[in-house]
Amino acid sequence: MTIKTALTYDDVLLVPQKSSIKSRQNVDTTAKLSKNISLKIPIVSSNMDTVTESRMAIAMALAGGIGFIHRFCNIDYQVKEVTKVKRKQNIVIEKPFTVRPNNTLAELKEKVQEHNCHSFLVSENDKQLQGIITSRDIVLEKDDTKLVSDVMTPKSRLITADKNISTEKAKELLNNNKIEKLPLVDQDFNIQGLITSTDIIKNNDNEKAAKDAKGRLLVAAAVGVRGDFMERVDALAKAEVDAIVLDIAHGHSTNELEAIAQIKAKYPNIELIGGNIATAKAALDLIKAGVDGIKVGVGPGSTCTTRTTTGFGVPQLTAIMNIAPVCRQHGIPFNADGGIRKPADFVKAMAAGADTIMIGGQFSGTEETPGPLISYRGRQYKISRGMASLTAALSRPDAKENINQITPEGVEARVPYRGPVINIINQFMGGLRSGMSYGNAHNLDELIQNTEFIRITNAGFRESDSHDNEVL
Ligand code: XMP
Repeated sequence: MTIKTALTYDDVLLVPQKSSIKSRQNVDTTAKLSKNISLKIPIVSSNMDTVTESRMAIAMALAGGIGFIHRFCNIDYQVKEVTKVKRKQNIVIEKPFTVRPNNTLAELKEKVQEHNCHSFLVSENDKQLQGIITSRDIVLEKDDTKLVSDVMTPKSRLITADKNISTEKAKELLNNNKIEKLPLVDQDFNIQGLITSTDIIKNNDNEKAAKDAKGRLLVAAAVGVRGDFMERVDALAKAEVDAIVLDIAHGHSTNELEAIAQIKAKYPNIELIGGNIATAKAALDLIKAGVDGIKVGVGPGSTCTTRTTTGFGVPQLTAIMNIAPVCRQHGIPFNADGGIRKPADFVKAMAAGADTIMIGGQFSGTEETPGPLISYRGRQYKISRGMASLTAALSRPDAKENINQITPEGVEARVPYRGPVINIINQFMGGLRSGMSYGNAHNLDELIQNTEFIRITNAGFRESDSHDNEVL
């Protein structure tokens, strides 16, 4: 039996190319997540329960990337997280929240808290518009027993518009009438949507955000391939999630291939990303089964112990280089998931052929991750954990095993608090832009075309980092 050698990021360097790049800021980092989804930056946040829920997904999409909401929660919870992202920013809110005219102000305040929303259309039956009430109407109101109908702006004083109104015309109406909300109705005053000045301003401010055709932020969500996975897919599709990722550790499996067929048969237009795999054969099988994107990585993650527990895995750079030609040939983008510790790893993953990368560990500990800040000896930390770690397995809603039957393939970690994730994204993107200039790459395709890797020795590796200094 011959044994092949496989490499990962630290085993190689990229050879500098003669560069015609005048400014690193002008390189084009547009990337494909899947067949029909483009991103302005090729970074995805990991579908881990200590990394991505709605806050992280919103920050990722605003930065031009995308977040994958994890699946380690019940379906309702995951759908709510997706909905929070989809509602964060849009020109037209298609299904505005409503309250009843006979709700008390106390009930209204509860809804404000629950939905983090400050204006509600008033309707008896969720159809006919009767008025509007905003937090400005109630901020100084002391009597919480008053009814919404006592305080709202009634139908007779409302400025409304047709649902097909253009953004420009809507801006004009909002401005001329000095109002902030514009309910959209049909001839019978049935609710058709809502336009708010805040959303228009936000949309103008967020030129580089990753958005769908309606101006809403992009978001993806993970599902499994067994149990109630189809119910989860149905609910996510209804919530208009932009992409679904099959989140299983060994994606090259009959279970996953059958799940792909089942999902695609019901939802041919859904962007489906299959994962995780590490070989060209697996990529081909997933592509034949109908995926629109692929996620690559078996065991490179910072909290993963799959390789030490099972002996299986492929060092990530080799996995990327083996899969890239298959994906290119079939026009299916792929994501390199796990093992990205520094900007150079990101550049090498992209140069080796990945279309996007996924980050878990480097984003953990940031402001936007789920979970509280904890203090330990005067410092602040957050918890990060592998999704196959002991505590993750035990905390699943469907956990059946007892503690002795679990063989973890991941670990738990305490991570120093790192502040807002955008600071880390900026460091990674700075590294990529700079790397593209060394590689004479005006865009990410050119980075791949111009790439010349060299394998380095231990001495070369030591030389590559700062050395012979007392680093401050
Ligand atoms: P990084 O290196 O960015 O990698 O932290 C994140 C990726 O690691 C994977 N992951 C796991 N892999 N056992 C594993 O073998 C686990 O418990 C585990 N948890 C996460 C996952 O693909 C993630 O995106």
